[in-house]
Amino acid sequence: MTMSTISNNKVPETSDACVEILLGLTARQKHISPKYFYDERGSHLFDQICQLPEYYLTRTELRLMDSHFDEVADLVGPRASVIEFEAGSNIKIRKLLDHLAEPAAYVPVDISGDYLLKQAAALTRDYPNVHVQPVFADFTQPFDLPQHPVMPERNLVFFPGSTIGNFAPGEAVELLKVMRLEARPGGALLIGVDLRKNPGVLHAAYNDSRGVTAEFNLNVLRRLNTEFDGNFDLANFSHLAIYDESRGRIEMRLISQKAQRVIVAGQEISLAANEFIITEYSYKYSLDGFGALARSAGWKPERIWVDENNFFSMHYLTVC
Ligand code: TRP
Repeated sequence: MTMSTISNNKVPETSDACVEILLGLTARQKHISPKYFYDERGSHLFDQICQLPEYYLTRTELRLMDSHFDEVADLVGPRASVIEFEAGSNIKIRKLLDHLAEPAAYVPVDISGDYLLKQAAALTRDYPNVHVQPVFADFTQPFDLPQHPVMPERNLVFFPGSTIGNFAPGEAVELLKVMRLEARPGGALLIGVDLRKNPGVLHAAYNDSRGVTAEFNLNVLRRLNTEFDGNFDLANFSHLAIYDESRGRIEMRLISQKAQRVIVAGQEISLAANEFIITEYSYKYSLDGFGALARSAGWKPERIWVDENNFFSMHYLTVC
């Protein structure tokens, strides 16, 4: 079958991307948008991170799913359309579709087209009764939803992996508002949220002993080299994740090992020795903290599931 994507949604142009990258690298605190992590190599490295003994997030969330998706399916009811923000792990969406009663549709929404199409094609093959219709869009802005042959009884927005933590709280509220809009009246949200905990556990999760996380972080520079004409020497940068306990966030850094000049997107960037570039934040929440954030975006918390260590949470919320 042919897989068409919805094309009237706004997708940034390459020139916008250059401007964004240069603004980030010339800012007082240098930063690069985390959306550059997930090219093919980055996605592969992230899969490896998810299997690291220190990276408790994925494992814990998968266990929560196995234990509680029956209950989730009861709450969602039959013939739902699942809208996944960021076409993420195949395993998670399959688990969800396997538990839901007669899911009507699956709409993965992502900015990266290739992966989206590959994943959608595999799901179309394996779930012939689910209308799989990818949407190629920047989901931080409202986007158009496709029509389905079977009218869904409700929209379920699915956002696992604690990716919500990669948005600053203000942006997270805006994203939760977009989700509420797309879920429509009667809709729901199933979201994974990593919790605040012992800083040692967090530090280990983001600075693994095998250096996979470091490779993953450095891959962003490799991408700037190939896609934006950069000449970063990866050997001159090192990875460090630090936990800011007062803000409840992990900060991913690429530290310049020496004073150096680099060219990217036609512009020279100077870095001092030990100056760092921030590539991503990973905010951790308390259960109450996340509840308050979601409420402020128009969501009504219905159910929360937490593992026995209180490491990770899964929340089911409905549109107010
Ligand atoms: N969304 C993941 C998280 O916040 C991303 C991630 C895991 C990550 N490890 C990383 C990002 C290391 C940068 C560097 O947990």
